[in-house]
Amino acid sequence: MATTTGTTSQATPGSLPPSVFTLPQTAQLEALYTIIRDRTTSRGDFLFYSDRVIRLLVEEGLNHLPVVPKTIETPTGSKYEGVGFEGKICGVSILRAGEAMEAGLREVCRSVRIGKILIQRDEETALPKLFYSKLPEDIASRYVLLLDPMLATGGSAIKAVEILKEHGVPEERIIFINLIAAPEGLVAFCTKYPALRVITGWIDKGLNEKAYIIPGLGDFGERR
Ligand code: URA
Repeated sequence: MATTTGTTSQATPGSLPPSVFTLPQTAQLEALYTIIRDRTTSRGDFLFYSDRVIRLLVEEGLNHLPVVPKTIETPTGSKYEGVGFEGKICGVSILRAGEAMEAGLREVCRSVRIGKILIQRDEETALPKLFYSKLPEDIASRYVLLLDPMLATGGSAIKAVEILKEHGVPEERIIFINLIAAPEGLVAFCTKYPALRVITGWIDKGLNEKAYIIPGLGDFGERR
């Protein structure tokens, strides 16, 4: 079995976990983030440019899937020794913001199965609580692209992976796809689940007192 790691680079700043991969921090990517972070950006532009970054993230997530040798015959009658994906995949979006990433996944994986998990704060315990989940019945045998654009404290993502593991998905078959992450959330998430991979577009400075990512882009759901 061969594993590719695509063009993502392992995040190095500070003490970030080795399972965190960022998109190449190119000027183009920074320009896209500048547009979506700008409070004066229209909703239409926010949708368009955040979708562009999401598409890049999904493509990079797929680069982390293992492949196996596969020989095919081309229309010229020649043999071609290529590769094919080793296993099946599915997407799981963490509602509600993660739903916005589903279209990006569908654009590159036609007829992909997509499950959903809704986690909210339990008002009594203040802890993340599962409110709803609908997952493919054979999810235990699939690689899972877990979708959530904003990783703040990591509470929802940690709970979501707990649910996936309860459904039989091994940690090492989970790839978390994320637009912006706070270092605190990354450390909490990856310390709890060291075997999963995180693909993020940008790692921001931190969190404010309301647990918003700083500088961030505000409330992702409100801006879409
Ligand atoms: N969710 C958001 O939409 N924005 C943040 O900054 C943090 C969580």
